[in-house]
Amino acid sequence: MTTTATLATRTDAEHMADPDWWRQASVYQIYPRSFADSNGDGIGDINGITAKVPYLKALGVDAVWLSPFYPSALADGGYDVDEYRNVDPRLGTLEDFDAMASALHTAGIKLIVDIVPNHSSNRHEWFQEALAAPKGSPARDRYIFRDGLGDQGELPPSDWHSVFGGPAWERITEPDGTPGQWYMHIFAKEQPDLNWDNPEVREDFLKTLRFWSDRGVDGFRIDVAHALTKNLEETLPTTADLEAEGEALYLEGRHPYWDRNEVHEIYAEWRKLFNEYNPPRTAVAEAWVHADRRARYASPEGLGQAFNFDLLQADFDAAQFRKTITKNLAEAEASGASSTWVFSNHDVVRHATRYGLPASASSAEGDIMSGQAGKQWLLAGGRQEDVDVELGLRRARAASLLMFALPGSAYLYQGEELGLQEVGSEIPDSERQDPSFFRNKGVEIGRDGCRVPLPWTAGGSSFGFGPAGSHLPQPAWFADSSVEVQEAQEDSTLSLYRRALALRSQLQADETLEWLETGRPDVLVFRRPNGWTSVTNFGTEPFELPAGDVLVSSSPLEGAFLPGATTAWLQ
Ligand code: NOJ
Repeated sequence: MTTTATLATRTDAEHMADPDWWRQASVYQIYPRSFADSNGDGIGDINGITAKVPYLKALGVDAVWLSPFYPSALADGGYDVDEYRNVDPRLGTLEDFDAMASALHTAGIKLIVDIVPNHSSNRHEWFQEALAAPKGSPARDRYIFRDGLGDQGELPPSDWHSVFGGPAWERITEPDGTPGQWYMHIFAKEQPDLNWDNPEVREDFLKTLRFWSDRGVDGFRIDVAHALTKNLEETLPTTADLEAEGEALYLEGRHPYWDRNEVHEIYAEWRKLFNEYNPPRTAVAEAWVHADRRARYASPEGLGQAFNFDLLQADFDAAQFRKTITKNLAEAEASGASSTWVFSNHDVVRHATRYGLPASASSAEGDIMSGQAGKQWLLAGGRQEDVDVELGLRRARAASLLMFALPGSAYLYQGEELGLQEVGSEIPDSERQDPSFFRNKGVEIGRDGCRVPLPWTAGGSSFGFGPAGSHLPQPAWFADSSVEVQEAQEDSTLSLYRRALALRSQLQADETLEWLETGRPDVLVFRRPNGWTSVTNFGTEPFELPAGDVLVSSSPLEGAFLPGATTAWLQ
């Protein structure tokens, strides 16, 4: 791997002042509890992140996206928020948060935080008030309470299922001790859905967005952005009724809670708030919606950008990649946003593992929380022996290098720069934390395997994650993937990411690419307007590279040939 290009000329100050900084950003997702533990309680924390700012700077990312760090019982890894305008005491204080934001900003790194508006936790003071208040009270109206069906209200208001398995309704005990109403929870029962028809709910979230924006937060990742508004009439349709309506229900925005048209009124109001700041605060929607409806979330009058998870759901396959890239670039252009690219996050099987699994039959229609191949592996118990680790990593490096050459924002997930594999069946059931494991016991092992604390050193009690243990067990093979080991290796995945991200910052100015035909269905070549080309060989037969200097490659070249499962950039 050789690098002959000069490094970026854009200064940190220019990046920090640029209202369009997000359009081509490389954004690094931190799952705070598993990143770095500064105080030895086994849980990653805010000061741990601050201490690693030099690492993030050396990696070359433009922004950090912080998954929830708010007070929480961790029924869903922090996506069950007790208090929206505070820091979990186990992770630090608001002062620690300010110090972290300031350290990131001084290093020229923007800060995006996760906002969880669809549901609060069941420990939130509003929900506690709702439980103590009578049926029909204003306190209950902040959530979605309904009487049950059946003679005694003993049946849930509908047969809907929660995303994590089991019913989407939970019955409460009324203050007088009698069995009472039911509340809706699309996710875990500890995550009651908020009622976005209630003006107090809307006001409070504006206050939260202002609170963090005033503290210097540069942008927001909006959790389950497509579920906030609901249409829950007196008689609720059954799951079978909904299924009978087919795709039209989704395409017309008529589903009772997914992707309803009026959700965009909320985001138009948020956009006004974001634009009061200079530079305007940014937002990216997590919206698992029909591709034809994604642009609504990404419009400049709305959140401005939306995740597309299409590449994440594709196999390592040239045709699937080309189709996905072409479609998403066109969509982004039509909406006025830039595209987003993601291979890994805290909800899916790490791509270095996914790509080492046998290809799935129909990954494009993959499960809502995971690429299909990864999902099947989780369902099968996540056995390491079913993974071709070497092939998975080789492909993951090729795919990531291709992604870094694309116009749009690249979202990376902590640990992918180390080529980390998913931890599967090595996590004993007794140590699992994910509600999707508990609500589906015996069916799937859940998402803990991509949330295992990072290995910073080859030794130590928690591979340098902190001075003591780690809240999820780390396997012995983490040692070889550690930052310490990889920093010393020129051909490590960490070195590849650093080199590629430094080069990527020179591609920022434009948002287009041109496909070049190769005569090989398993090889993709595209050129960016600065003249650089990215070449990926998805197959196994070596491909003769076109003329040009090699800037970087994901695996060693074979003379003038690009071997299988490899990407190279040429100038
Ligand atoms: C999406 C988040 O990414 C996931 O981790 C969480 O479980 C659900 N939303 C519910 O908040």
